[in-house]
Amino acid sequence: MEEKEMETKRIIPNQAGYKQAGDLLANGGIVAMPTETVYGLAASAYDDAAIARVFAAKGRPQDNPLIVHIADLSMLPWVTSQVSEQAKRCAEAFWPGPFTMVLPKGERIADSVCAGLDSVGVRMPSSQIARELIRAAGLPLAAPSANRSGLPSPISADHVLRDLDGSIDAVLMGPRCEVGVESTVISLTAHPPRLLRPGAVTLEQLKTVLPDIEVDPAVLDRPKEGEQVASPGMKYKHYAPKATLIMVEGDREQYCRYVNEQADGVAVCFKEDVDRLGVPVYCYGASDDGRTQAYALFEVLRRLDEDRIEKAYLHAPGQTGVSLAVYNRAIRSCGYRKVVL
Ligand code: TXA
Ligand code: MG
Repeated sequence: MEEKEMETKRIIPNQAGYKQAGDLLANGGIVAMPTETVYGLAASAYDDAAIARVFAAKGRPQDNPLIVHIADLSMLPWVTSQVSEQAKRCAEAFWPGPFTMVLPKGERIADSVCAGLDSVGVRMPSSQIARELIRAAGLPLAAPSANRSGLPSPISADHVLRDLDGSIDAVLMGPRCEVGVESTVISLTAHPPRLLRPGAVTLEQLKTVLPDIEVDPAVLDRPKEGEQVASPGMKYKHYAPKATLIMVEGDREQYCRYVNEQADGVAVCFKEDVDRLGVPVYCYGASDDGRTQAYALFEVLRRLDEDRIEKAYLHAPGQTGVSLAVYNRAIRSCGYRKVVL
């Protein structure tokens, strides 16, 4: 079902704005909101009809569950039936922040939020704007990234409007997102706990609280045909610009030589690569700094489309720290195409 064209309100995040957006959400509306990771498309997590509108506006497959956002710990019992000691320790260590825990689903949460699963992903963002909005609505807010399904996640209000203007009730016009990639998702309903999606809360940090955490195989590789995946989102095409993207793994010299030899595309590269390249460059941070890569990646992917680029060679990031999250998004943007030098 496609949403009908409607006027999408631009709402300023001040007292009056929170009230206006909160009222929309309490009455079945769908509103895009900034968070520290990416913009989310929020709806009441208790309202099946509002959730159906979120899936329709995004063009999202119905079997891909949404993350539910809370403003503070007093809301946790609203969304989950059981808070284990493990969950408490994780909340203490990583909330508020770019961190989502899959927990047993609370009764009031709409079934469509969890795509029929008996678990729910829960996150307390550090963004003050997001938390003000949650408080104004007086509800836990289900919010997937506010992009058309399959495209890179939006990190500015402008990106949201490019994808969803005319299909959603409003956008809370906040700042550009600080982190740039979606939250870390772990499952605590799995034993041992499992990393489903890497993010700015790193595996190294998680291990300090959950020493036995396992990394889901789908974090680094394409899920096999017909294989059951722990996080349904991992089986879909994702983060993909229109350009054909190819990941190239090698050191600076190898990468630059390879790209210069191809001469049929642009370079999505690190700042250290720039002066050795003879093709147009799209820089995404520093080779040894995952945070700068995460900050830039989705913006660069969207710029490739704006510039109508057809082919691009992406210098592979590392797989430690925040770079693991960047690698995970990048390899999917590349449709798992990779050249190892
Ligand atoms: O940073 C973020 O997490 C952003 C902002 C808006 O908060 N939200 C976001 O939501 O990225 P979304 O819906 O685009 O991604 C949710 C991911 C999907 O990969 C989904 O499969 C997984 O979380 N997920 C959600 N609930 C789950 C559950 N009950 N079991 C397993 N995976 C779940
Ligand atoms: Mg998403």
